[in-house]
Amino acid sequence: MRTPIIAGNWKMNKTPAEAKALVSELKPLVKNASATVVVCVPAIDVYAVKEEIAGSNIHLGVQNVHFKESGAYTGELSAAMLKEAGVEYVIIGHSERRQYFGETDATVNLRTLAAVKAGLIPIICVGERKEEREAGYTDALVEYQTLIALNGLSEEEIKGVVIAYEPVWAIGTGLTATDEQANETIGVIRAAIERKYGKAVADAVRIQYGGSMNPKNVKGLMAQSEIDGGLIGGASLKAPDFSLVVNYDK
Ligand code: 13P
Repeated sequence: MRTPIIAGNWKMNKTPAEAKALVSELKPLVKNASATVVVCVPAIDVYAVKEEIAGSNIHLGVQNVHFKESGAYTGELSAAMLKEAGVEYVIIGHSERRQYFGETDATVNLRTLAAVKAGLIPIICVGERKEEREAGYTDALVEYQTLIALNGLSEEEIKGVVIAYEPVWAIGTGLTATDEQANETIGVIRAAIERKYGKAVADAVRIQYGGSMNPKNVKGLMAQSEIDGGLIGGASLKAPDFSLVVNYDK
């Protein structure tokens, strides 16, 4: 059985002081969670959040990592830097990075390899745009995005990664994929992993849904057989809302 994983993606929100206040409020609200709880914070917030969550069941993540070990890459952070700072998870290939920062499937793969090599757990984002769904390319696209991202990892390494299926049209729009749509596409992703790496690997990988997930729709989504958790944007910015998502089974 896969342990569900609910992760907040704060995106470009919360100063260090605001971040500290948010996790301080969140801690008692999620302390009995059965899911793994993660907050993916702006890198500048890492130290404040790490100090505040020490001894709690909240895990620390960030939203990007560079693929080189070091060097002349102004403005970037290496996997080793993040690891040493106490980061455990890193979101890779979010659609906003693909859309605004030139992220490609090839760089998603390089970042994933660098993250895993440094001992970070990648949360790899895949998902189709509205036109791509309407044109019937959802399955082919998410399969391709997933397999390219994982290329070069060992089967054991793949078992430890997290994939987030985020239909781009559902992000920040209030539009959610239906429970069945989300389950079906996540099933397609898992089947692609099974074809290439076998059933044991496919059964181990945790695949989240992301896109306007909130306290109201979380139960229906989490009741689906293929959905192992959520990557939450807007609803992760307020402790009461995020805790209701985390405690979907309570
Ligand atoms: P929203 O929950 O705000 O739609 O964002 C989803 C997302 O992009 C999480 O990575």
